[in-house]
Amino acid sequence: MADERPIGMFDSGVGGLTVLKEFRKQNPQENIIYLGDTKRFPYGSKSKESIIELTKKGIDFLLSKNVKAIVIACGTATSQALEEVQKQYEIPIIGIIDSTVQYIKENRNLKNVGIIATTGTIRSGGWQNKLHSQIPDAILSYKACPLLAPMAEEGWTENEIAKLTIKEYLKDFENINCLILGCTHYPLFKKCIQEELGEKVEIINTGEKLAKDMKKILIHEQKQNESTQEGSYEIYLTDTETNFVQVASKLLKAPEIKEKIKKADVE
Ligand code: DGL
Repeated sequence: MADERPIGMFDSGVGGLTVLKEFRKQNPQENIIYLGDTKRFPYGSKSKESIIELTKKGIDFLLSKNVKAIVIACGTATSQALEEVQKQYEIPIIGIIDSTVQYIKENRNLKNVGIIATTGTIRSGGWQNKLHSQIPDAILSYKACPLLAPMAEEGWTENEIAKLTIKEYLKDFENINCLILGCTHYPLFKKCIQEELGEKVEIINTGEKLAKDMKKILIHEQKQNESTQEGSYEIYLTDTETNFVQVASKLLKAPEIKEKIKKADVE
């Protein structure tokens, strides 16, 4: 049965749009409501309690828009709030960790795994615990990169400062086969990161893996939008005084994006 209701997506800012972009490639007919909690950005330095509280507010807002499923398009919220909100809400809620862990598990050549993410995500051990429980012989190296998400919000993803910052953060990663971009803002630095690590290291964009899984879930739950038309997306921000428009229009190649952005009333 067709379900034309939108998918809700949630992040602290512009990073979740890297997930939205991948999701739309693989699920072009789906409609999306995106919420960026720009008023409370950054999430990466906040406590677990705050992240849970803010994630619930985001979910409540998306539910008020009649969404059929929710994607937590934020590594920080996935690592610290996903389990809690999955217990509290009945709607399907998916985060960015599981699909990527599954992908690595199925690709046995990716044993030496690097992870970069926000301070909160690394502190939570969310990636490390899942990877270790699923792939006990994986060798993990990880690093918190607290400057990257604010730089991405600023649009500083390919300049000299971005290159130097990436170089400094990645200097201790040795012999890794893959690097998980554990924060959804980081795919914006993909070019710099790939240049720094070389072509032999696979850079994993979690949105790409999540989008494939989400497609399967929608089919399984009979919630897929069966329309033959391309789906639309709307973006809500809790504070619109940000650089969001510039970064988003470049990322999504959508010069008209300003018209899709509305102010969200989330207390
Ligand atoms: N995009 C986010 C993440 O995936 C959060 C960045 C932040 O708000 O600090 O972790």
